[in-house]
Amino acid sequence: MPSSSRSKITGHYTRPDLEIMILDALAAAGKDLDRLTAEDLAGIDEFHIRGRKATLELARELEPERGMQVLDVGCGLGGASRHLARQYGCRVAGLDLSPDYCRVAASLTRRLGLDHLVSFQQGDATALPFHDASFDIVWTQHAAMNIADKGGLYREFRRVLKPGGRLALYDILAGPGGPLHFPVPWAGEPSISFLVTAGPLQELLALTGFETLLWRDVTESGRAWFRHLSDKVRQEGPAPLGLQLVLGPDYRRMMQNQVLNLEQDRIALIQAVLRRPGGS
Ligand SMILES: C[S@@+](CC[C@H](N)C(=O)[O-])C[C@H]1O[C@@H](n2cnc3c(N)ncnc32)[C@H](O)[C@@H]1O
Repeated sequence: MPSSSRSKITGHYTRPDLEIMILDALAAAGKDLDRLTAEDLAGIDEFHIRGRKATLELARELEPERGMQVLDVGCGLGGASRHLARQYGCRVAGLDLSPDYCRVAASLTRRLGLDHLVSFQQGDATALPFHDASFDIVWTQHAAMNIADKGGLYREFRRVLKPGGRLALYDILAGPGGPLHFPVPWAGEPSISFLVTAGPLQELLALTGFETLLWRDVTESGRAWFRHLSDKVRQEGPAPLGLQLVLGPDYRRMMQNQVLNLEQDRIALIQAVLRRPGGS
């Protein structure tokens, strides 16, 4: 990826003092910083539509076995990486373009006592710093939207998967409703947003050598989740531990546009599990 695109994308996600802001907000909400739980972090470490719910759902589709090697691509602050380690006993490598996110993800993981199972490293999803056939599962949620080179991305996923290994996707796609309203949570403007529609994506994945085990359009669940969330915010006010900490001052506009884009069919949501053929 050209370094100008890389710095635009990391610039979009960079928040100075993110860890301090998160810890301050947790302390202000009465959480014990020496005994943090996964639930304490769920409002900020699941940076995708339907939050923790979506992670639990996709993980249940996979039912990973204890000790499996998982790569979480575009892991953000590592909520899903920690869930796969804590709930299923997987060994997880989280990879993200943003060095700040990797640092905060590692620190939160130490606080939750999961650093023996989960590690983080900075890197680019289209040039994965791992050997061929290293992972039983490649997992990715809401990261491909920033990646222009989809062919390179899925080739890398296939390369690092063991034969018989599975790819779990939860992604935002382009819908039939026309161009997006910006800013959105993954991009302040169009030059770092690269959405594809479902048909060409399925074709590309098949051409790359994946078999589809599950392909589910979950756009309606995303809309329902936002409706429920806005009712809650109307009644109780905004949650103190929310994505506003991660998204910064444009948070409100980004969320409003996310809802508009969903309601107007400009974006769609898919959940998928695919398999690299081979193995036993
Ligand atoms: C919307 S966040 C989702 C984070 C996480 N998967 C989650 O669901 O909580 C998108 C993440 O993708 C990362 N990302 C974007 N482009 C990437 C690339 N080329 N390689 C690795 N990570 C990338 C960003 O840095 C960001 O952390």
